[in-house]
Amino acid sequence: MSIEIVKGDLTRQGDVEAIVNAANRSLLGGGGVDGAIHRAAGPELLAECRTLNGCATGEAKLTGAYRLPCRYVIHTVGPIWQGGGHGEAELLAKCYQSCIRLASEHGIPSVAFPSISTGAYRYPLEQAAAIAVGAVKDAMAQCAPELKVRFVLFDDRTYDAYRRALDSCRKD
Ligand code: APR
Repeated sequence: MSIEIVKGDLTRQGDVEAIVNAANRSLLGGGGVDGAIHRAAGPELLAECRTLNGCATGEAKLTGAYRLPCRYVIHTVGPIWQGGGHGEAELLAKCYQSCIRLASEHGIPSVAFPSISTGAYRYPLEQAAAIAVGAVKDAMAQCAPELKVRFVLFDDRTYDAYRRALDSCRKD
């Protein structure tokens, strides 16, 4: 099972076929990694997103990548942290599962994820990292055993949390 963790910028991953955008339900852009992806992809990405009629939390939709160095962008919408009692964990896991299912359906061999929901959506990082790694492992085992997955983390704190999550997942 190929899951790697790197510190870097998701918009510069030229050796993966798809990158995942942590979008909002409108799919019409925003800040954070969403803003970085739209800035790097150029206006054609927004034009295509306008045709998608938004995206529900936990779901995923596919577009081209335009001026980005990869081929596709998979847009998903993570849950906004509301204290943990509103199904946030299940919805966050569903984001990763939906993205991996979509990649599998389109024969995409490699996908890079950001740390979904741990920025503006304020999901506690340690919990999110454990959910992300667990959900990716389960989804790959179910429908995409050959998929290559990379987590691209933007700062040391996030990188360390995902490193710990992957190490403890490998011990299980
Ligand atoms: N590459 C990789 N990771 C990045 C990049 C980048 N270029 N830019 C930001 N990140 C990281 C953040 O540091 C954080 O760890 O992505 C993670 C997710 O943070 P957000 O982008 O804020 O995403 P999220 O918490 O899911 O909130 C989504 O924010 O940008 C808006 O439109 C978006 O409304 C939506 C909300």
